[in-house]
Amino acid sequence: MRVLIAYASGFGATAEVAKEIGKVLAESHTVEVQPMAKVQSLAPFDAVLLGSSIRAGRWLGGLPRFLQRFRRELETTPFAIFAVALTARTLEGSRRLLAESLPQLLQRFPELEPFASQAFGGVLDYDRYNLAVRMVMRRVAQSEGLPTSGLQDFRDWQAIRAWAQELSQQLQAKEMT
Ligand SMILES: Cc1cc2nc3c(=O)[nH]c(=O)nc-3n(C[C@H](O)[C@H](O)[C@H](O)COP(=O)(O)O)c2cc1C
Repeated sequence: MRVLIAYASGFGATAEVAKEIGKVLAESHTVEVQPMAKVQSLAPFDAVLLGSSIRAGRWLGGLPRFLQRFRRELETTPFAIFAVALTARTLEGSRRLLAESLPQLLQRFPELEPFASQAFGGVLDYDRYNLAVRMVMRRVAQSEGLPTSGLQDFRDWQAIRAWAQELSQQLQAKEMT
């Protein structure tokens, strides 16, 4: 299948996850990985994977904009969604995100239904934040008992690759039907 992986990413953590998933999918499919804002058309693709991080409890704006822009095409093109977020570093947090934030996102698009969804832990990189963001993130981290300086990477690459394998098989199965 020709698969588009489109991402919305503030500091690059989601972009790196998208690229890693792309590597796995490329073993069995033709894959293009692009920032959502650069996507011109879904016509060249048989399936789409959308990834966004979560900020202040919300998906990055690029994702709802993408869904709005391509809602017609996504009705007939199989698509999946993944999130990258601090809260998703635990199984419970990941489940909560999928149970609450995903329906919230999709309620504006009742005709759209992803065939798969997943949430992965994200990154805290205090040195890359400006003062205001650093202060907010320190408060969030403190309340969660996490370190308040340096680089904290909660992405579970094994879990990310395992999900990509699953997706790859699901797409192969779709190809045969
Ligand atoms: C300003 C800001 C707000 C954030 N808010 C949340 C949040 O509400 N919930 C959460 O789980 N993670 C939150 N995070 C953590 C991000 O989801 C995490 O850092 C992720 O790796 C960012 O990915 P990106 O670099 O692709 O944007 C926030 C991060 C920043 C910088």
